[in-house]
Amino acid sequence: MALAFLRWIFRLLTLLVVSHSVCVIFYYTADTHSSREAMPDTLQRLRCAKLGRKFSVITSVKRLNMESFTEELVDFLKCPQKPNTTEQELNRMKLQFCCNATGSIFLTKRNTAINQTIPYETDTKHTYRMNAAIHNMLPEDFPWSGRRLGRCAVVGSGGILKNSSCGREIDSADFVIRFNLASINDSDVGLKTDLVTINPSQIQREYKDLEKKLNPLVKRVSVYGNTSLIMPAFAYTFCTGLSIKTLKALHPIRPQQPVVFFSPYYLQTLDHFWKGRGLKSIRLSTGFMLISTALELCENVHVYGFWPFDTDLQDNLVPYHYYDLRRPSKSMHKMPEEFVRLLQLHSQGALTLHLQPCSSDAS
Ligand SMILES: *[C@@H]1O[C@H](CO)[C@@H](O)[C@H](O)[C@H]1NC(C)=O
Ligand SMILES: *[C@@H]1O[C@H](CO)[C@@H](O)[C@H](O)[C@H]1NC(C)=O
Ligand SMILES: *[C@@H]1O[C@H](CO)[C@@H](O)[C@H](O)[C@H]1NC(C)=O
Ligand SMILES: *[C@@H]1O[C@H](CO)[C@@H](O)[C@H](O)[C@H]1NC(C)=O
Ligand SMILES: *[C@@H]1O[C@H](CO)[C@@H](O)[C@H](O)[C@H]1NC(C)=O
Ligand SMILES: *[C@@H]1O[C@H](CO)[C@@H](O)[C@H](O)[C@H]1NC(C)=O
Repeated sequence: MALAFLRWIFRLLTLLVVSHSVCVIFYYTADTHSSREAMPDTLQRLRCAKLGRKFSVITSVKRLNMESFTEELVDFLKCPQKPNTTEQELNRMKLQFCCNATGSIFLTKRNTAINQTIPYETDTKHTYRMNAAIHNMLPEDFPWSGRRLGRCAVVGSGGILKNSSCGREIDSADFVIRFNLASINDSDVGLKTDLVTINPSQIQREYKDLEKKLNPLVKRVSVYGNTSLIMPAFAYTFCTGLSIKTLKALHPIRPQQPVVFFSPYYLQTLDHFWKGRGLKSIRLSTGFMLISTALELCENVHVYGFWPFDTDLQDNLVPYHYYDLRRPSKSMHKMPEEFVRLLQLHSQGALTLHLQPCSSDAS
C-alpha cells in the first residue's frame, strides 16, 4: 500500500518535471522564432552568400550609405566565416613575390652592407649611406627566420576596442603586432606583444630631450618586455635622425629589446603592390602595411581595432583611438578606403576582422 503510494507520488513528480521542460522548450522556440537567428537555414545561407559577394567587391566608400552599410555588416558578421586556405596561400605567394617580408621587412646585418646606399621610401632626391656604427647595431637576422608564424593578431588602435573584452582572445594568439607604443591591458587589448611600432613623430613630440632624459622612454618600452620596436627610419628624411637617436639611446641599456628599421625597399614594393590594386593614398598606414606583412608571414591573420568611422556597429559614438582622441592626417592616409580592402579580404576568407566585442567564452 505504502509502496503504491510512493510510486504514485514518483509518477506525479516525473510528470511535473516533464511538463515543465516542455513548457521551457515552448518558451524557447516561441522566443527564437521572433528573431532573425531562426530564419530558415537556406534563406540565411542565401543572404550570407549575397552579402559575402557584395563585400568582396566593394572597393570604395565614396558612394556608401553608412546606415545600410552597417546594417548589412552586422548581418554579415553573424554569418559563419571559414578561412579560405587557397586564398590565403595565393595572397602569401603574391606578397612574397612582390615584397618579401620574409627576407626584407627590416634592415639586418645580413641583408644590408656597410656603406650601402639606402634609398628613401618616399623621396628620390635623398639617400642614406649605412655607416659601420649603425650597421653594428642592426639585428643579425629575423627572429622568426624560416619559420612561419601561426595565428597572428594585428591590433590597431581603434576606439572600438574600448570595453571590447578582447584582451584574452588577443593574448591567445601566437604573434601579436601593435602600433605607436599603444597602451596595453589585459581586459580590452591584451598584453602579449611581439612587434610594436614607434612613430618618429612620437619621439619628436613626446621625447624631445632623449639624450638627457632617457628614463620615460625606457619605462614606456619596457612594458612590452623584450619585443622588437620597429621604426620607419627611411620613410621621410626627418625620420632618420629621430630613429637613429632612439636606436642609439636604447641599444646600450636595453640590448635585449632591438630597435629595428623598416626596409624602405620593402615598403616601396608594398606601396606599388597596393597602388597597382587601386588603393590610392599618398602613403599606406603602418597598420595596413603590417597587416600585409602578416598575410605573408602568418598562418592566420586576425585583425582587431581597425574601424575608421565615428560610430560603432550599434550606432554608439566611438573615440578614434582607444587611448586618446588624436586623429590621423586625412590627406595622408585613406583609412576608410583601407578598411574596405580589409573587409574584402575578410569576405574572401583571407583574414578575420573583429569589429564587435569579444565573447567571454572565446579563446
Ligand atoms: C577560395 O578561394 C579560391 C581562390 O580565390 C576560390 O577559387 C574559391 O572559390 C574559394 N573557395 C570558397 C569556398 O569560397
Ligand atoms: C626572400 O628573401 C629571402 C632572404 O633574402 C630569400 O632567401 C628568398 O629567396 C626571397 N624570396 C623571394 C620570393 O624572393
Ligand atoms: C666604407 O667606406 C669607407 C670610406 O669610404 C672605407 O674606409 C671603408 O673601408 C668602407 N667599408 C667597407 C666595409 O666597405
Ligand atoms: C565602457 O564602460 C564604462 C563602464 O561600464 C562606461 O562608463 C563607458 O561609457 C564605456 N565606454 C565605451 C566607449 O563604451
Ligand atoms: C628579456 O631579456 C633578458 C636579458 O636577455 C632576460 O633576462 C629576460 O628574461 C627576458 N625577458 C623576457 C620577458 O623574455
Ligand atoms: C584598458 O584600456 C581601456 C582603454 O584604454 C580602458 O578603457 C580600460 O579601462 C582599461 N582597463 C583596465 C583594466 O585597465
